[in-house]
Amino acid sequence: MAFDLVFFGGTGDLVWRKLMPALFQAFRHGSLPEGGRIIGVGRDELSDEQYRQRIQSRFEQVDGDKRPQAEEFAEFASLLCYVRMDLSQPASYAALAKRLAERETDSVVMYLSTAPSLFTTVCEQLAANGLNTSKTRIVLEKPLGHDLASNRSINAAVGKAFKEQQIFRIDHYLGKPAVQNLFALRFGNALFEPLWRREHIANIQITMAEELGVEKRGGFYETTGALRDMVQNHALQLLCAIAMEPPINAHADAIRDEKLKVLRALKRWTPETLSQHVIRGQYSAGNVFGQSVPGYRDETGVSAQSSTETFVALRTEIANWRWAGVPFYIRTGKRMASREAHIEINFRPTPHEIFKSPMGQANKLVIHLQPKDGLELHLFAQGQSKRGPGSGGATLSPVHLDLDFDKRFGSQRVGAYERLLLDVLDGRLNLFVRSDEQEEAWRWVEPILQHWQNDTIGPRPYAAGTWGPSASSAMIARDGFCWSEEV
Ligand code: BG6
Repeated sequence: MAFDLVFFGGTGDLVWRKLMPALFQAFRHGSLPEGGRIIGVGRDELSDEQYRQRIQSRFEQVDGDKRPQAEEFAEFASLLCYVRMDLSQPASYAALAKRLAERETDSVVMYLSTAPSLFTTVCEQLAANGLNTSKTRIVLEKPLGHDLASNRSINAAVGKAFKEQQIFRIDHYLGKPAVQNLFALRFGNALFEPLWRREHIANIQITMAEELGVEKRGGFYETTGALRDMVQNHALQLLCAIAMEPPINAHADAIRDEKLKVLRALKRWTPETLSQHVIRGQYSAGNVFGQSVPGYRDETGVSAQSSTETFVALRTEIANWRWAGVPFYIRTGKRMASREAHIEINFRPTPHEIFKSPMGQANKLVIHLQPKDGLELHLFAQGQSKRGPGSGGATLSPVHLDLDFDKRFGSQRVGAYERLLLDVLDGRLNLFVRSDEQEEAWRWVEPILQHWQNDTIGPRPYAAGTWGPSASSAMIARDGFCWSEEV
C-alpha cells in the first residue's frame, strides 16, 4: 500500500521526539506498509539529504535499543524527503503539490504538528491546491483550540476541506496499550460488567501525575494550564472509556457514539459545585527525588504573577442510570510526587459485615496505565489468625491479584504514536476523537475556565514533589473517601 505521509512542522519537536522514532519502530517491526514516503515540511532551507542527516543526529540521542543501527537507519532514511514551505504563503503549496504529483499512491496523510493557529490556513490552502482528494487523510494534533468557540471554528475550517471520515484528531492517550486494554478489559470479559455500576461501585478515581515540571514549554503552558492540557482531552477520554456503555460493535462510530453519551451526561456545573468540587493548584519550589526544583513562577517563559494552574482535582458525576450518584474524581498535575497514571475503581463494602475488614477498606480494582501497565484486584483473605473465620471478630488481611502486562506481552506491545500512525495509514478511526466529542468536552470545561477568570484567589500553591494542595484531599474526604496514596 503506497503512501505519502507529510509532516507539517517536519523540523519541530514532536516530529523528532515522537513521530519519527515511532515510524522507525514501525519500520523495524515490519508493520510500516511498503512503498511509503515520509515528507518533512518546514521553513528551513534543506535538501532531502540534509533532512535525513538532521533526523539521524536526533536519533543518535535516543537511548538504548530504540536507537537505530547504521544500516537500519540508512534503509529507513531512504523513505525520507523534505519540502521547504512557508505555510502562511499560498505560493508555497505548489511545491508540495509538485512533490506529491511525482508518484501514484493509495493514500496521502497530512499530519499537522504545527502551531494550531496555522490549521485553518493549511486546510484552506490544501483545498485550494486540490490536495484534499478522497484518498487524503488529515491528522490534527492538540491543542485544537483554547475554548469551545475556537475549537468549533477549527473544526468548521477543517470540515470545509475534509469529510469527518478523513479527519484524525489525535489524543495520544488513546494510543497507549494500557488504554486500549481498558476497552478489552471491559468489553472482552463478562466478569466485570454486572459489577460495573452504581449498585456496586462507591467511587472512581483517575490520577494522571507527572514528576516533570513545564520544562521548556513555559510560554505555551502559561496560556494553557492543566485543565486544557490534560483534563479536557486525556482525562475525559479515560473517563469515557471507564463509564461508557458497551458499544454495539467495534467500529469507530459505535465507540464514539457511546463516549459522546457519557460526555453529554456529565453533570453540569453550578456555582456551588464550581467552588467546592474543583481545586486548582500551582507548584512552588520543592524537592523531586532529592533534587531541589524551582517553583512554576520561576520557570522560563512564566510570569512571576502567573495564575496558571499546574494541578487540577475535581469531582463530577454522570447523570444516567448506570452511574447516578457515583462520584468520579479526576486529578492531574505537574511536579507531583511521582509519574503515575492509574484508575481506581472502589467497590462498595459488603452489605453486612461478619468479618472485620481492615480500616473499613473494601475491594478495589486498580488499572495501572503508566509507568506500570497492569491490573491489581484487591481482595481480602483470612491470614495468620489463630481464630478461624467463624469465630466472631476475625480480621481479614488484604491480598491482591497482580497482572503485569509489560511482563506478559513485553516486546509485542506497540507504543502510542506507533499505534496511532499505523491506524491513520490504515484508515482506522477507532482511537481518534470525533468533532462532537471534542466540542462536548470543551462545553463541559468552559464553565470552570470562566469561574477561574472571575476568581481573585488564584491557584493554591503546593510544594513540588507532593500530591498537590491539601484542598484536593479535603474535597474527596468530604465524601468519606481518600486518594490511593492516603489509604
Ligand atoms: C501532553 C501534554 O498532551 O501529554 C503534556 O501536553 C504532558 O503537558 C503529556 O506532559 C503527558 O503525556 P504522557 O504520555 O507522558 O503521560
